[in-house]
Amino acid sequence: MKDKVIELIKEAESFTSKDANEIEQFRIRFLGKKGVLKDLFAAFKEVPNDQKKEFGQLLNQLQAKAKERIEELKNASSSTSSTGKGDIDLTLPVLNETLGARHPLSLVRNEIIEIFARIGYTVSEGPEIEDDWHNFTALNFPEEHPARDMQDTFFIDEKHALRTHTSSVQVRVMENSTPPIRTISPGRVFRNEAISARAHCIFHQVEGLYIDKDVSFADLKQTLLYFAREMFGEKTQIRLRPSYFPFTEPSAEVDVSCNICSGKGCNVCKHTGFLEILGCGMVDPNVLKNCGIDPEVYTGFAFGMGIERIAMLKYQINDLRLFFENDMRFLKQFKSTI
Ligand code: PHE
Repeated sequence: MKDKVIELIKEAESFTSKDANEIEQFRIRFLGKKGVLKDLFAAFKEVPNDQKKEFGQLLNQLQAKAKERIEELKNASSSTSSTGKGDIDLTLPVLNETLGARHPLSLVRNEIIEIFARIGYTVSEGPEIEDDWHNFTALNFPEEHPARDMQDTFFIDEKHALRTHTSSVQVRVMENSTPPIRTISPGRVFRNEAISARAHCIFHQVEGLYIDKDVSFADLKQTLLYFAREMFGEKTQIRLRPSYFPFTEPSAEVDVSCNICSGKGCNVCKHTGFLEILGCGMVDPNVLKNCGIDPEVYTGFAFGMGIERIAMLKYQINDLRLFFENDMRFLKQFKSTI
């Protein structure tokens, strides 16, 4: 019996394989429930007392050897398996990288910028924290105008506020350049409004400004018609309604024909066939003067639109809050290359 154990120890020591299956077979044969060690330990009772010590030591040695060998072989085989360094399978197909999607507001902003870039408009940017002059006074807001009120504006101190529109950027452009000026200013704006499906305290605008000699209201109308058709399709109609802004005179609000019912009337356009998209007008001579431009020589027009509003119409989104919640299910729908 002793000899048999010594033989098994030798066998365990010399056993070698890279095959996980073979290693497992070896484990079962030596250490399994019905394995040789189990039998030998069972036979231990019959061993004469004076040999028990030696025999017991041999059995322990065999058990330790078998375990050690299995461990060694397993380690050796896992370091050369397919995840190991030396064994990369270059023929495996590449996993698809899942690319993120651009935010719908960025998509629409980029599209607006591109549409105006095609007719020569540059992009101007300015600070989000503005002084009273650039946000209000230069734009002809009277001292007591309600838009200056705490209800609309987030004031930082007596002289500074979060800009309520990007017209403030246009004041900066007019102050720092000479006409002709053709620029749009996209950016974030802030108003103290209750958050709802149609309004938010933070939103995005693109405002446009064109100043040169002999710029007329007809130029404004044609520019906006071009924009509306590029944005919403070539059959789009526009409609101008008289309105009021302190910085433009005359002023108008612009509607586009509803792109859902093609102007026939539906729930989205509240059966009017039209949807409001922007405000516009001829730059008030006072504003030109405030910014160092001679109103006797130059005229110009300005317009401003909310990017959220355009995106809602374009993608038929009925709740503005969706733009700010960053729900992946919403964002994933806007894959594009722009
Ligand atoms: N600044 C206006 C707003 O924020 C939009 C506008 C811009 C209107 C230019 C007319 C001309 O609502």
